[in-house]
Amino acid sequence: MGERLKGRNALVTGAGRGIGKAVALALAEEGANILVCDLGVAPDGTGADKTPADSTVEECRRFGVKAVAHYGDVSSFKAAEDMVQACVNHFGTIDILCNIAGILRPKMIFNMAEEDFDKVHAVHLKGTWNLCRHASVFMRQQKYGRIVNTTSEAYAGTVGHTNYGSAKGGIVSLTYAVARELGRYGVTCNAFAPRARTRMSVGSDQDAGLQKRIDSGLISEERLQGMEETRREGAEPEYFAPFIAYLASDAAANVNGCIFVVSRATVGIWSHPQIVRKHTRDWDSAAPWKIEDLEKLVPQELLVDYANPAPPRE
Ligand SMILES: NC(=O)c1ccc[n+]([C@@H]2O[C@H](COP(=O)([O-])OP(=O)(O)OC[C@H]3O[C@@H](n4cnc5c(N)ncnc54)[C@H](O)[C@@H]3O)[C@@H](O)[C@H]2O)c1
Repeated sequence: MGERLKGRNALVTGAGRGIGKAVALALAEEGANILVCDLGVAPDGTGADKTPADSTVEECRRFGVKAVAHYGDVSSFKAAEDMVQACVNHFGTIDILCNIAGILRPKMIFNMAEEDFDKVHAVHLKGTWNLCRHASVFMRQQKYGRIVNTTSEAYAGTVGHTNYGSAKGGIVSLTYAVARELGRYGVTCNAFAPRARTRMSVGSDQDAGLQKRIDSGLISEERLQGMEETRREGAEPEYFAPFIAYLASDAAANVNGCIFVVSRATVGIWSHPQIVRKHTRDWDSAAPWKIEDLEKLVPQELLVDYANPAPPRE
């Protein structure tokens, strides 16, 4: 047991199971008090159960810290406000916020119901924004805070997850923006894309989904390697949960607006999006771009080393 987070108070969503639970325990092990937030839903977001949050509370207390359960739904603006307020009421402040709660509803876009898009965005993107929104008021005032959001490698483009991938991409953009808005107040905001064996990543549905993508050639070699690391025996989140405790610690005071990838065997950092090639012309003499010019310019000057990720089939 360390003392790097002693006296700090943390709110962790999705803390009843999987990655959220491992992170809650890693923070508690470093001395932080934990508000354990979990609605206790099935992987698709249905149902509700208090037992996962209660059991994490018990385990956190074994480290000698205070721990309290909250069973609210992160997608509700009001419930998120209540979670943040509960952290302040029970422990005095909210110093650390880890947004980890999540669900999955995979389908190809042409088969996806509107509700599956809305629900996944509500939990991931809106839920993360809800908690950041309410916690930022306290963190700005106290001039201290550590926010850690959870994205996924799916944010860079995936198959069967237009709802999930776009919500996780939104979380990356949200993280960049919150980092820039709150940095001056001593608050950092970073995100991580995990690779962990949990009920979300392993199971017969996930096996079938991955096999379909491999068979159709719709998965890159690099992404496949990541997926294999995610599903490998022994890929428990406990291996990388200390990385999140590090981001929450004083040692990471100057780490802000970064997107990491973390697993048992790998820690990495994503590049920030940037314009890699451009053609610029004189502003004053520029006429509307001509399609016949673009037909030459785009392939010759912009699409150098480019390959279509999903070219049309015969
Ligand atoms: N497992 C992986 O390899 C992996 C990869 C990429 C991203 N992620 C992300 O990591 C996070 C955790 O995933 P996991 O694998 O631990 O999944 P998990 O299903 O084991 O845990 C998710 C937890 O979130 C809770 N939750 C869901 N909706 C909620 C809501 N509306 N309000 C409050 N709590 C809610 C669930 O009850 C559950 O306990 C998710 O955001 C997921 O998208 C996981």
